[in-house]
Amino acid sequence: MDRKESDVYLRLDPARLPKHIAIIMDGNGRWARRRHLPRVAGHRAGVAAVRSTVETAARIGIPALTLYAFSEENWKKRPRSEVDFLMRLLCRYLKAEIKTLNENNIRLEYIGRKQELPESVQQEMEYASDATRNNTGMVLTLALNYSARSEIVDAFRSLAEAASRNGGLSHFQVDEQSISEHLYTRHLPDPDLVIRTSGEMRLSNFLLWQLAYSEIYVTQTLWPDFRGVQLLESIEEYQSRERRYGGLGRDPGHDRDHAKGRAVDAKT
Ligand code: FPP
Repeated sequence: MDRKESDVYLRLDPARLPKHIAIIMDGNGRWARRRHLPRVAGHRAGVAAVRSTVETAARIGIPALTLYAFSEENWKKRPRSEVDFLMRLLCRYLKAEIKTLNENNIRLEYIGRKQELPESVQQEMEYASDATRNNTGMVLTLALNYSARSEIVDAFRSLAEAASRNGGLSHFQVDEQSISEHLYTRHLPDPDLVIRTSGEMRLSNFLLWQLAYSEIYVTQTLWPDFRGVQLLESIEEYQSRERRYGGLGRDPGHDRDHAKGRAVDAKT
């Protein structure tokens, strides 16, 4: 950890670290444009940000980190050459990173319709996840060809199939728990914190079910400039928030208003 990172780290409460952080990595194209470089140069630079973020998260003991790498929409709406470049970059990352992932005890997982990705990419993905399968530290989940709506559709299909295997529609059980158990993220708790880089205020079809109660942190930093220190800053901000889950929280003003409300109720 460098000086700046350890300054922020010392301000964190280690007992209240988020158990799962999800990141929408955005701004690679803008980063490149500001430097008069092709868009793909931004993606290439984004790999250094991935490395730094993953290592910092693992080192401070975050149990789960999920990175939104490519959405289902990315395939349809970007030039073929950019998509091919992203595929090659991903394969290179997976090959090069196995050693570091193992050294940091990180297990690699994926979410998304991976069966639609090129065969060679799927093989590389499987190889990398197999090679890290026995690690017991942080779970790093890459969202690849991911769409939250498709995930929910797939969860319902999977529920229906489970019911038909079980004896038919009368066994079709739908509640929050059964849906959660059929999502791609069944291996993960819901994110406590979702980070979006480059200032956009959107969820972009990312983990729509799972982010129901997550704290949202948006930074102007473009993804290629994001590093471990920015991750620590986002956690510091997260720790300053009060999570209410629909309740009233600790603000004494709330208690006063609440008591006043009761007094009025009693009078009327
Ligand atoms: C968004 O920037 C970024 C992507 C669509 C790709 C993310 C990929 C990486 C960070 C690198 C490779 C990832 C791994 C896991 C090795 P954008 O192109 O939408 O940026 P813009 O909004 O500024 O155009």
